[in-house]
Amino acid sequence: MALRSSTFLAALSLINTAVAQNSSSGGTSSASTDWSQYVQPFLGTEGTVPGTSFNGGNCFPGAVLPFGSVKLGPDTTSFNTSIGQNAGYTPDGNITGFSMTHVSGTGGGPIYGVVSQMPLVSLNGVNVLDNLTYMEPRMGNDSASVGYYKSTFQNGITTELSATSNAGILQYTNASHMLVDLSHYLPSNGGGYQSQFYANGKITVSSDGKQYQGWGIYKGAFSEIPAYQVYYCAEFDTTPESWQTFSGLYTDPYWPNTPYLRSGPIFGNSSTADGGPESYLFGDRVGAIFSFASDVTMIKSKIGISWKSTDMACQFKDQEIPGWDLQEVVQAAKNTWNNDILSTITISDLSNVTRLEMFYTGLYHTTLMPTDKSGQNPHWQTDEPTYDDYYTFWDTFRCTNSLLLLILPERAAGIIRSAIDIWRHEVFMPDGRSGFYNGQVQGGSNADNVLADAYVKGLDYGINWDDGYQAMLTDAELTPYNTQDAGDPTSSVKEGRGALPDWLNLGWISPDYSRSISRTVEYALNDFSVAQVAAGLDPENQQKYLNRSANWQYLWQHNLTSYNFTGFLAPLFRNGSRDPGYQPGVCGEGCEATSYTYEALPWEYSWTVPFDMQTLIDFIGGANTTEARLDAMFIPGLGSAVGVNGGNGIGTTLYNPGNEPSFSTPLLYNYLPQRQWKAVMRTRQIVNRYYNNGRSGLPGNSDSGAIDSWMMWQMLGLYPVVTQPVYLIGSPWFSNISMHVGNETPLRISAENLSDDSYYVQSLKVNGQQWNQSWISHDDIKNGGTLEFVLGSEPARWDTGAVPPSPGHVVTNEIF
Ligand SMILES: *[C@@H]1O[C@H](CO)[C@@H](O)[C@H](O)[C@H]1NC(C)=O
Ligand SMILES: *[C@@H]1O[C@H](CO)[C@@H](O)[C@H](O)[C@H]1NC(C)=O
Ligand SMILES: *[C@@H]1O[C@H](CO)[C@@H](O)[C@H](O)[C@H]1NC(C)=O
Ligand SMILES: *[C@@H]1O[C@H](CO)[C@@H](O)[C@H](O)[C@H]1NC(C)=O
Ligand SMILES: *[C@@H]1O[C@H](CO)[C@@H](O)[C@H](O)[C@H]1NC(C)=O
Ligand SMILES: *[C@@H]1O[C@H](CO)[C@@H](O)[C@H](O)[C@H]1NC(C)=O
Ligand SMILES: *[C@@H]1O[C@H](CO)[C@@H](O)[C@H](O)[C@H]1NC(C)=O
Ligand SMILES: *[C@@H]1O[C@H](CO)[C@@H](O)[C@H](O)[C@H]1NC(C)=O
Ligand SMILES: *[C@@H]1O[C@H](CO)[C@@H](O)[C@H](O)[C@H]1NC(C)=O
Ligand SMILES: *[C@@H]1O[C@H](CO)[C@@H](O)[C@H](O)[C@H]1NC(C)=O
Ligand SMILES: *[C@@H]1O[C@H](CO)[C@@H](O)[C@H](O)[C@H]1NC(C)=O
Ligand SMILES: *[C@@H]1O[C@H](CO)[C@@H](O)[C@H](O)[C@H]1NC(C)=O
Repeated sequence: MALRSSTFLAALSLINTAVAQNSSSGGTSSASTDWSQYVQPFLGTEGTVPGTSFNGGNCFPGAVLPFGSVKLGPDTTSFNTSIGQNAGYTPDGNITGFSMTHVSGTGGGPIYGVVSQMPLVSLNGVNVLDNLTYMEPRMGNDSASVGYYKSTFQNGITTELSATSNAGILQYTNASHMLVDLSHYLPSNGGGYQSQFYANGKITVSSDGKQYQGWGIYKGAFSEIPAYQVYYCAEFDTTPESWQTFSGLYTDPYWPNTPYLRSGPIFGNSSTADGGPESYLFGDRVGAIFSFASDVTMIKSKIGISWKSTDMACQFKDQEIPGWDLQEVVQAAKNTWNNDILSTITISDLSNVTRLEMFYTGLYHTTLMPTDKSGQNPHWQTDEPTYDDYYTFWDTFRCTNSLLLLILPERAAGIIRSAIDIWRHEVFMPDGRSGFYNGQVQGGSNADNVLADAYVKGLDYGINWDDGYQAMLTDAELTPYNTQDAGDPTSSVKEGRGALPDWLNLGWISPDYSRSISRTVEYALNDFSVAQVAAGLDPENQQKYLNRSANWQYLWQHNLTSYNFTGFLAPLFRNGSRDPGYQPGVCGEGCEATSYTYEALPWEYSWTVPFDMQTLIDFIGGANTTEARLDAMFIPGLGSAVGVNGGNGIGTTLYNPGNEPSFSTPLLYNYLPQRQWKAVMRTRQIVNRYYNNGRSGLPGNSDSGAIDSWMMWQMLGLYPVVTQPVYLIGSPWFSNISMHVGNETPLRISAENLSDDSYYVQSLKVNGQQWNQSWISHDDIKNGGTLEFVLGSEPARWDTGAVPPSPGHVVTNEIF
């Protein structure tokens, strides 16, 4: 706690020195460049239909610090069941409150949107239990910049706000009343599976009405949590003229004014309203309404939240926001973003603002999640970091965690240490986790890949690798109990590897389990991860897991043809028979949780064995056929990528720019001799077509920054091969990049002769040495260094050296 407040004071003291430098100084950056000016908080909030979040990125546009527990922003109404208000904000609809907690860039059932305030002009016609009676349409668009958000209602109320890690400040103009409703949360349309609900709450108001505190309990949502509890402590700068607590019948998910539920709120003069015993998950709805004198034009409020206690929430409020100056908090937020995050990668040519906005907003999105709740673990005492809102490793393992490892190694290690700590106390590391509850496994146990990636790159920062390895072995050997989930009743979706019995007994996953193809390739990579760590910590078992990593080869059906190409991953039944009608270019049952493949085509998943590209290329028929088959991934109209997460015209190629299974595909040309230029060509086309600096500038959900970090790697001219200390070479989008790697000298990436028409690599020097390989190793850059590119407008076959390694190369003869 002391540390937090001194960090805050240190940040404040910088306000007058390092702030808001105008980068118009000839288009070059200086040490004090205000990188936050390039962050566009609304990037990725809209999708394929302008003015709506339909198919959008679900990015959170409100006020937040890096990995902040508090994400303070508006919550809106939307009656279109296809629009999830996963980040609270939608451009359309009306506002029902400003709440303290959100996630950013997620799909699935919404979570949070809790601990809110709603400013009102009048109480006429208002039923405090019915948001339809007080929701407010906005005037124009909301506006935002790093650490700041503003919304103006048509009724004349303006709300401005900012946030620290665990507290928020709100400044209201023209409001006369403040509604605090503990039963406010982000709903799913229609209820049911993954829906969030209110469970219970308590509010206690001080006798002068200036302060209130308590807790709320909520349930369900994305990870299907039995219940999570959040504590709050709030204060107004102005004493209200009057206030009242209220309670009302538990109505979820029905509107309180529907027939049979016509029971209005009960107002009380008691300072406390609670919904019943804390263990009761159908408690009364509770809240309070505060009314201010008619001559009050501005009301300010500060709110702290904690996941552990009300006292802690009050401490956060007082320590993190000691004063009442909104601008001071905004400036401190900007400084924190600049100093801690945005300046880890600096770009010297500031002439193309569009590109800078894409890049720095990408970095911003990548560092909003998971949420740092260190020191607030409600379930066990620990000195380890506590992160929540892993959303999910399935999305972030491919390239997001590897980016954090380079530029923010302590954060990268903290995220891993927290996952291992969860294993210590709850048996399994998470794949997805929110509200301190593991849930929503989509494929394999992909924390394994993140751990292996960090292990082979020598990440330390206090990671207990012996425990880490044991946590990976748990994933590899212990079958999680079947959660009988509505999304997939065949095995656990909570954690671990639900289809492990087939994997251990048959070697592959049979269609007795759902997602049998995608889980087979993911389990194979997971076991390769185990082998990578075993190599150092348990050499006797390395070969065992290496052998298991080759099990994807069982599923390869060598005589299966699709779009003129032969050999695909295909379902394999227990008795060794095949599905004669199987088509790898088509999504059976929509590529959902109960299909053969999850959220991607078998064509896409057939590329996802990064540890043994040698065998894959061999199975496909050599380099030339592999090149043609990669080309086929990008032929418009040839296939139809899955609509899930789709947006921006996705759906015309087999390759899906909007979802993670396709992430590495365009980079795989690097595994073919002298084809690196094609990876550059494809990735340029993809970024140019599907990414921009506008509100719909992302191809679908940001997925906690996974989509953004993929784009950032392209712009850096590198791409990590996760679980290996290897980066594939691309082509940088900026002429001079300086990137923090650990605490050493920076990695400098330069590009000579770069322009919109000149981006093919002609030659490359790595740390001063002429380079002819399409990849580098982590050792080449881990202590900083230089990558000097010379670019040109024509493809060059400069990559004559050895192709990237296949450290999981295993030849089996047990092929069906
Ligand atoms: C930035 O520079 C522009 C143009 O020189 C100037 O108009 C603007 O006032 C400057 N902004 C700040 C914050 O210094
Ligand atoms: C609001 O934002 C939209 C983009 O979603 C833009 O097209 C529109 O012009 C903006 N309206 C105003 C009044 O600025
Ligand atoms: C939801 O909005 C989208 C985009 O405007 C539209 O295509 C779709 O039909 C709407 N769905 C419903 C149920 O209104
Ligand atoms: C927003 O509020 C306006 C005015 O009260 C109403 O006409 C409109 O239907 C509401 N829209 C939504 C999506 O809540
Ligand atoms: C407050 O209301 C007055 C009168 O309606 C209006 O002129 C003023 O612009 C409002 N202030 C803000 C900040 O919205
Ligand atoms: C409005 O309140 C009703 C009743 O509590 C609830 O079912 C609904 O989800 C709420 N809508 C929003 C957008 O919060
Ligand atoms: C609350 O207090 C007011 C004024 O003191 C009184 O008129 C009213 O009856 C009280 N209401 C209840 C429910 O006790
Ligand atoms: C700036 O970058 C954008 C996005 O990459 C690109 O479309 C545009 O052509 C660039 N503009 C110039 C002048 O280079
Ligand atoms: C790995 O597979 C090879 C070839 O099938 C086999 O000879 C060897 O015994 C296996 N090793 C282990 C440890 O399973
Ligand atoms: C492909 O091989 C499988 C056995 O692996 C066999 O059942 C199937 O009939 C063959 N299909 C074709 C088209 O030859
Ligand atoms: C497949 O082969 C046919 C016949 O040669 C050709 O017309 C078609 O374009 C090919 N399709 C692809 C995707 O290569
Ligand atoms: C691959 O293609 C290249 C260029 O088209 C050709 O020179 C080479 O002979 C081909 N290799 C094989 C094995 O067919």
